[in-house]
Amino acid sequence: QRHLLGIEHLSQEDILTVLDLAEKYVDLNRRTVKKTDALAGMTQINMFFENSTRTQASFELAGKRLGADVMNMSMQTSSVKKGETLIDTALTLNAMHPDLLVVRHQNSGAVDLLAQKVECAVLNAGDGKHEHPTQALLDALTIRREKGRISRLTVAICGDVTHSRVARSNMILLGKMENRVRLVGPPTLMPAGVADLGVEVCDDMRQGLQDADVVMMLRLQKERMDGGFIPSEREYFHRYGLDAEKLSYAKPDAIVMHPGPMNRGVEIDGTIADDINRSVIQEQVEMGVAVRQACMDLLARNLRAERGRALSEGT
Ligand code: CP
Repeated sequence: QRHLLGIEHLSQEDILTVLDLAEKYVDLNRRTVKKTDALAGMTQINMFFENSTRTQASFELAGKRLGADVMNMSMQTSSVKKGETLIDTALTLNAMHPDLLVVRHQNSGAVDLLAQKVECAVLNAGDGKHEHPTQALLDALTIRREKGRISRLTVAICGDVTHSRVARSNMILLGKMENRVRLVGPPTLMPAGVADLGVEVCDDMRQGLQDADVVMMLRLQKERMDGGFIPSEREYFHRYGLDAEKLSYAKPDAIVMHPGPMNRGVEIDGTIADDINRSVIQEQVEMGVAVRQACMDLLARNLRAERGRALSEGT
């Protein structure tokens, strides 16, 4: 594949290939010298039209550890602010011959559209409510390391499912890997028709967490809610926030995940988030660098092979 646009385009085998290579990068990243030359001579441009801490930092670090020249476009000070469109911006950057373009955008489908206009590999770093593929892959790696497998598990994905690209990518990945997926949250934050996708839907946390192996909490995405949402954060936490009492319904060895950024006291109690016996939130961040290294390494191999073929065919 040329691009990484969504989990929906990946097979079970593709997913396992990424996870297996990422394992090698986890080991390497824990050493004193972390650098390889997998992307030597390649240029990576990061374009984040929406705010990010984890994804942007880890893509930058991943590219640098793989030996790429990495440029972070500051979209706040770019000509987008003067009215330049996403496509014109992409075509301008494409003319500078990057090899990898990492893009986050507030509109669902924007990254797919951009990928059709450029000659390099495009990685989706989150597009609107659509997909966040590297987040689902890093979550899968974290789960596999903690549980010893990434299939036949019961995973409860809890909170604001409607507005969450993390939930969507995870739902697709966990389904492909033959897990039991339970979506838990208020009906107002559950997408219509989602039960038809082979997942269980539940509006009660205690029922939804029953015997879960993995409890994945989601942030309330207020920026996508147009003002209308919930009674109050206090009421939301009471009904849907993860605390010790609600977590006691999951399996005793259930792990707690959150993609970040977290709103403590809204969707998760701070003591649960910090409990090193249950929470794997920091491990998720660590896996993020390794997974992004694996994804860019694999795409760079494909790109080199594609260019090699074009050269030998004289095209
Ligand atoms: N999980 C995630 O996408 O975090 P950031 O928004 O900080 O990148």
